[in-house]
Amino acid sequence: MKIEDFNIKSLIRPNVERMKPYSSARDEFKDFKEDMVFLDANENPFENGVNRYPDPRQATLKSHLSTLKRVPVDQILFGNGSDEVLDLIFRAFCEPRQDNVITLPPTYGMYGVLADTNDVGNKEVLLNTDFEPDIDAILNAVDANTKLIFLCSPNNPTGNRFEDKAIEKLLSNFKGLVVIDEAYADFSSAESWSTRLHDYPNLIVTQTLSKAYGMAGIRLGICFASEEIIEVLHKIKPPYNVNELTQKKALQRIMDENVVQKEINTILEEREKLLKTLKNVPFVAKIYPSEANFILAKVDDANKRYDQLLTEGIVVRNRSKQPLCENSLRFTVGTTVENSKLIEVLNKLN
Ligand SMILES: Cc1ncc(COP(=O)(O)O)c(C=O)c1O
Repeated sequence: MKIEDFNIKSLIRPNVERMKPYSSARDEFKDFKEDMVFLDANENPFENGVNRYPDPRQATLKSHLSTLKRVPVDQILFGNGSDEVLDLIFRAFCEPRQDNVITLPPTYGMYGVLADTNDVGNKEVLLNTDFEPDIDAILNAVDANTKLIFLCSPNNPTGNRFEDKAIEKLLSNFKGLVVIDEAYADFSSAESWSTRLHDYPNLIVTQTLSKAYGMAGIRLGICFASEEIIEVLHKIKPPYNVNELTQKKALQRIMDENVVQKEINTILEEREKLLKTLKNVPFVAKIYPSEANFILAKVDDANKRYDQLLTEGIVVRNRSKQPLCENSLRFTVGTTVENSKLIEVLNKLN
């Protein structure tokens, strides 16, 4: 979508466009000096590290992430996990019982759940048998009320990254917003779509600290988009959606980039090892290429193999109910010890 053909105002829900955001105590005094006396937010004054409300704009964390990801601060929004970011996108742009979104199964289940929660239509356009999006079918499914298209790349549960050309075609031909969920992008050597924000005003990219950064427990989701889109999402987000402990922990972790990269490298090596093993397991019919920290494999009887693994104390994800994933199990790459146990068990099952 060319900048001049795109009109964000036409996509925002009218109530969101009209509303005034909540002005929090901490928002009103952003540039405070250390020695000020804060009697404005009804906090308990006794210092314990978390007695004050957290920074609603997460300025310190944002500025470090901005440097790391090379995206300007004004084009970043944080959420309580990327699930919250995805929900905010629905709530900002989709009018309940009127608008719809397009999702591409087999994919991450939350897009459909959020559509249901927000009472927004969900048009499902299946990926093709190579698990690539069928762009013509997607564009055919678009109608006047289609606000969002969700692409997950690398895709969960299939593991593949979608071809750039396909995504470019979608971005250029859809007047709504294209959300690219890059939860697993840190495991791929490809460039993030966040580097293309200046080319596509209708692009939203989401990432998370839950996967490669090893911080699923603190809940930090990231949204990259134009300043205008970020402002809309910021307007409706709960003021203190990213708590103080999360902001601190996340900052420590992103400043430890070498450690994170080392863990990613190990996971990638382990993924290759697991891939080789799975190829030689007699009941594995097909293994799908992965640019994520998991491998999807088609087996002879997914329920049987799932139960056998469970009996051996190993929990994997049975994705057989998803379209195009009959008899498919998804294996998350664990530690070397965990993977060795999985390999040992896979080799002895019959
Ligand atoms: C594709 C995808 N997006 C988003 C999420 C949720 O991420 P978060 O933990 O940041 O809410 C997941 C979690 O499994 C996922 O697979």
